[in-house]
Amino acid sequence: MGKSRRDFIKKTMTASAVVSLGGILPSFNAKSYGNILGANDRVKVGIMGVHARGLALAENYARQKNCEIISISDVNVGYMNKCIGVVEKIQGSSPKPIGDFRKALENKDLEAMIIATPDHWHTPAAILACKAGKHVYVEKPCAHNPKEGELLVAAARKYNRKVQMGSQRRSWPNVIEAIQSLHEGVIGRVYFAKGWYTNNRPTIGIGETAGIPSGFNYDLWQGPAPRQPYKDNIQPYNWHWFWNWGTGEAGNNGTHFVDIMRWGLNCSFSSNVRSSGGRYRYEDDWQTPDTQVITWEFPNNTFMEWESRSCNGRTIEGSSVGAAFYGEKGTLVLDGSNAYKIYDLDNKLLKDVKNDISIKIHSTVSPSQALDALHIQNFLKGIREGVSLNAEIEKGYRSTLLILLGNIAFRTGSVSFNTNPQDGHILDNDIANKYWSRRYQPGWEPSV
Ligand SMILES: NC(=O)c1ccc[n+]([C@@H]2O[C@H](COP(=O)([O-])OP(=O)(O)OC[C@H]3O[C@@H](n4cnc5c(N)ncnc54)[C@H](O)[C@@H]3O)[C@@H](O)[C@H]2O)c1
Repeated sequence: MGKSRRDFIKKTMTASAVVSLGGILPSFNAKSYGNILGANDRVKVGIMGVHARGLALAENYARQKNCEIISISDVNVGYMNKCIGVVEKIQGSSPKPIGDFRKALENKDLEAMIIATPDHWHTPAAILACKAGKHVYVEKPCAHNPKEGELLVAAARKYNRKVQMGSQRRSWPNVIEAIQSLHEGVIGRVYFAKGWYTNNRPTIGIGETAGIPSGFNYDLWQGPAPRQPYKDNIQPYNWHWFWNWGTGEAGNNGTHFVDIMRWGLNCSFSSNVRSSGGRYRYEDDWQTPDTQVITWEFPNNTFMEWESRSCNGRTIEGSSVGAAFYGEKGTLVLDGSNAYKIYDLDNKLLKDVKNDISIKIHSTVSPSQALDALHIQNFLKGIREGVSLNAEIEKGYRSTLLILLGNIAFRTGSVSFNTNPQDGHILDNDIANKYWSRRYQPGWEPSV
């Protein structure tokens, strides 16, 4: 047996041990893997956007025994080639480099596209993939504006595709257990949730207009976004803080915890949204708030709040990220890992469920590969076995929508507006409503 094959099987065994965690998925050993899964049983996937998160996803997908990565797409040739090398080592076969993902979608063998590009590409690329008959794993937030989220849900339905959002905590066993116990009344009726993110992010400075680096297709990087001249401080990663491409810390880290809070509070569309915040810490090109509070009210007599401090890392509940639920009989706290604690009304610790897998909470790439594999498995099994997706796009959109509404409240300075609890649409506020969609680069408008 060749070394790469041996490594592959060793890693497959590790992944198998991981996916059997919590009893959610059956465990395999390497031999049974070899017997059970032929080449045709493996879901053939392509990945687009492989610098940071996409590279971590590529490693993770490559480790899954029931999947094969057959193409890698990136507008940066260097990132694409690096990722291919990494995948080949794990998988034992080399995916094709196809810079333009639209070409990758033309491959009839391709079954699913994994999207880990900047946010402005999520919905447009996911819709093109659905139209091409591919299933989609799209990173959070699934949309850059509310209209896109509606279009993406419509595309998933019209083309009957499995679309999973990368809110991986939906598949973490202890998080599932915690939410289930909330729904079963462990702290009585839950009426308030608070989520947070804290960090000490440095300034991004003032960008210089610069020549586009060789091997980088900036036109395709911008894609649906109206063209802006290339500057040396927008990518990778810093695009998060520019409205043309990103959705700020709310869309970045908030989506995860707003999704958990919405799940725990058993609520869907809001009835009111308000937000305050600003770019307080540095004077630089960063446009989104570095400090922000968003509050949502829901028709089921619950409300929730998101607090983010990108430039002050003082923790809350001893954790830099998390979500806490407050109820009639006590409090349940999730610290962002696969752990939770329950307290009574006198702050007495009643239950302490520890995280058993290491988490790097400030990793911008992947807090936990092993736990994320559960979410990936859920997606692959959704495709092959029809199991329901833990972060099906309708759920993903509803959580993303709350974040986008919070950003709209901040951006319009209107601070507070009502929304229709039937569909989340903004009520009686024409200025805020202008942000329901965006201006697109002509010719790049997404349509179902
Ligand atoms: N689920 C999670 O825990 C998690 C963690 C980190 C990031 N993310 C999400 O992943 C996404 C990517 O974040 P990142 O930190 O990796 O950003 P990044 O800027 O480091 O990487 C983005 C990649 O996309 C590529 N790209 C851009 N346009 C493309 C196109 N049209 N076709 C192919 N490739 C294209 C870029 O060249 C780059 O390689 C973000 O939406 C982020 O919110 C999720």
